[in-house]
Amino acid sequence: MHFNPSLYVVLSLLASLGSVSAVGVVGQAPGFAADTTGGGNSSPVYPKDIKELTAYLTDNSPRVIVLNKEYNYIGSEGKVSEKGCRPDSNKCPGNGGQDAINGANWCSNSKYPLSISVSYDKAGIAGIPVKSNKSLIGIGSSGIIRGKGLRIANGAKNVIIQNIHITELNPQYIWGGDAITLVNTDLIWIDHVKTSLIGRQHIVTGYEPSNRVTISNSEIDGRTSWSATCDGHHYWAILFYGTSDKVTMLGNYIHNTSGRSPKVGGTGSGTLLHAVNNYWENNSGHAFDISENAKVLAEGNAFQNVKTTLLSGREALFSVPDTGSAEACRSALGRKCELNAFGSSGAFVGTATGFLGTMKDGVSPMAASKVVASVLANAGVGKI
Ligand SMILES: *[C@@H]1O[C@H](CO)[C@@H](O)[C@H](O)[C@H]1NC(C)=O
Ligand SMILES: *[C@@H]1O[C@H](CO)[C@@H](O)[C@H](O)[C@H]1NC(C)=O
Ligand SMILES: *[C@@H]1O[C@H](CO)[C@@H](O)[C@H](O)[C@H]1NC(C)=O
Repeated sequence: MHFNPSLYVVLSLLASLGSVSAVGVVGQAPGFAADTTGGGNSSPVYPKDIKELTAYLTDNSPRVIVLNKEYNYIGSEGKVSEKGCRPDSNKCPGNGGQDAINGANWCSNSKYPLSISVSYDKAGIAGIPVKSNKSLIGIGSSGIIRGKGLRIANGAKNVIIQNIHITELNPQYIWGGDAITLVNTDLIWIDHVKTSLIGRQHIVTGYEPSNRVTISNSEIDGRTSWSATCDGHHYWAILFYGTSDKVTMLGNYIHNTSGRSPKVGGTGSGTLLHAVNNYWENNSGHAFDISENAKVLAEGNAFQNVKTTLLSGREALFSVPDTGSAEACRSALGRKCELNAFGSSGAFVGTATGFLGTMKDGVSPMAASKVVASVLANAGVGKI
């Protein structure tokens, strides 16, 4: 057969088209949200501006939405100046604390007088109301959403958020905004996402069911100049407060926070949390706050410079406290659990085992001794 130049051109064109259409979600969700498909194989769309990004996220079509630049929502909905309050926590010398917007009537309910002026960006307060069947993915480390979060609610489900950085939601104010909110949803995969400079929660579920959620390879960066604990660390990091929720947290990097990292609770059957192979570093307050209706298996994690790993008096935790207890998992999960590892951190002991059978999410943990290197190499944006 002789060489056919036009066939050659067609073939190489097909090959290059092949690599273009290969833009999409990388991998599949580990853990409880394994069945998440997001926008599936819909052709990728590249929003030209914030208006188009919001339109793609909020319409009724399945979509693969690709971000290769920053989308800045700051100023897009105007500014608000009104009365807010100064909570007791803000006793910071100079100006390094967090004052509060009267979100959810918080100032009034907490009996803090509406005595100070607050001025904030309106776009940060409410997240973009994302609909079902969406994949939102970033290219390299270029996919940034500034000044507005994402809210998956009201029955919207099957959403993948991968390799995106969400930042600058009125970080100076409590109630300034949440980066990712889940309420009344199912099948959500948050992967290689970074959140930084957030006013309120970096990730929150509640109060209605969020069902199956996986948060993997993500970075919760708590560094802030407006710390509710007056020390450059963000207090309101992660709140799991739904009902019937099953959450896998795998391979995440949670650093420079000072509280609620995470707070786990909820109503009714609350939250089941499998926290595995995560790295907590430089937490000046507490990591886990496990309250009513929560059940937590924490294994194979690494804690470095975490002052209080667990608020006391909270029982529904299995922390794999010793080599013998690692075997307790075998009958429930068909494998032993991995011990956690600690450097300059507080005690982390939970011996509740009754719920281990509900923690079957298919994840096979690595040993905690490998976690710091693995998480630092993989967690956050620009690392897939
Ligand atoms: C999402 O996709 C599923 C499966 O294809 C479909 O059944 C459902 O109707 C879609 N939801 C919306 C809101 O388009
Ligand atoms: C993170 O917190 C630690 C103390 O907990 C502090 O030493 C370090 O400087 C902080 N990192 C940054 C980049 O601010
Ligand atoms: C954590 O704190 C140590 C000691 O202060 C510091 O060397 C390290 O850079 C900090 N890590 C981060 C992510 O700031």
